[in-house]
Amino acid sequence: MINLNNGGVAPSPKIVMDTEKRYLEIENMNPSYYMWNVLDPGIETVRRRLARSFGCDPEEIAITRNASESLEIVQLGMELKAGDEVLTTNQDYPRMITTWKQRERRDGIVLRQVKFPVPPPSMDYLAKLMEDNVTPKTKVIHICHITNRTGQIFPVKKICRMARARGIEVIVDGAHAFAQFPFKQEDLDCDYYGTSLHKWVLAPIGTGMLYVKKSKIPTIWPMMPAPDSMQDNIRKFEEIGTHPASQRNAITEALTFHESIGVDRKAERLRYLRKRWSNRLRELPGVKILNSEDPEQSCAIGFISIDGFDAPKLSKYLWEKHRIWTVGVVTEGEYQGLRITPNVYTTLEEVDTFADVMEKIIKRGSLPA
Ligand SMILES: Cc1ncc(COP(=O)(O)O)c(C=O)c1O
Repeated sequence: MINLNNGGVAPSPKIVMDTEKRYLEIENMNPSYYMWNVLDPGIETVRRRLARSFGCDPEEIAITRNASESLEIVQLGMELKAGDEVLTTNQDYPRMITTWKQRERRDGIVLRQVKFPVPPPSMDYLAKLMEDNVTPKTKVIHICHITNRTGQIFPVKKICRMARARGIEVIVDGAHAFAQFPFKQEDLDCDYYGTSLHKWVLAPIGTGMLYVKKSKIPTIWPMMPAPDSMQDNIRKFEEIGTHPASQRNAITEALTFHESIGVDRKAERLRYLRKRWSNRLRELPGVKILNSEDPEQSCAIGFISIDGFDAPKLSKYLWEKHRIWTVGVVTEGEYQGLRITPNVYTTLEEVDTFADVMEKIIKRGSLPA
């Protein structure tokens, strides 16, 4: 099978899985001793390594199970009152939108979602769009660092600064960004950043990271309660009861693997793979490449829309007839197409096979029966 949906979740390298398995065996020898006494302290090494990679103080990093948990901690833990507005886009992640909608029902906050064209004219356009939609009631802006649809990178720093000047909090959904392309916390200047580690870090499935700026930690309620004495402690967000140390502790091995490639080289390779298939297909009839070509605004995630083709049907056909695994994305009333995400292990032959099959289908003008 050709896996072109590495955006969903990515396979761990063997060295990471071996580490995870080794820890799993150790913790099962006598969990209350080996897990709690021997393996659990390793979380501090994970915190230090993640902090170095993200460019912050370890006391600002919580280890979670995924981006959803990281973001929901902030979304649900922030003090908001009825009538307060949260500004986001209609291309933000559905689960995060669902979370805000639950707060609408429960707390009477108001969610406002703006639309933007793909690709947008520029990053400044996106920054201005958010600024123009701020109202006196806006208390939070929620944006993706890179969207999970067309892979659009947002001008996070600009939006954070604009918001801070107005007393607005910004939550950055970095589910796809961390370890896909190079950046540090200071490049974003954000207060809250949530990401999965089972996407681009290639860490064990079920691992995530939450960054909360030190001064903001006391202002966020943890999703699962923690004692009052932990009010200022980032570890209050990890008070989730018994859970495996084997996945979490193997994050360090994934970081070592990631750093041994180097994030700059990785991003270059991912952009190369994306361009390799999209450059072949972009001039064919009815084809629209909806990711930006600007390297500041795009990386691994590519998006192809073809006039007259139903995206979910096309994705199903590619899988059933050619064992090519993609995602059909539909943004109702706006656009539809295939999201294509290779990874560092994706071969040129795999990308070319995808392009060959697509070229034939596009030239034919319809899916073979
Ligand atoms: C933009 C975005 N945010 C959040 C998530 C949630 O990630 P997870 O399912 O790992 O919690 C995803 C998952 O694909 C995503 O693409």
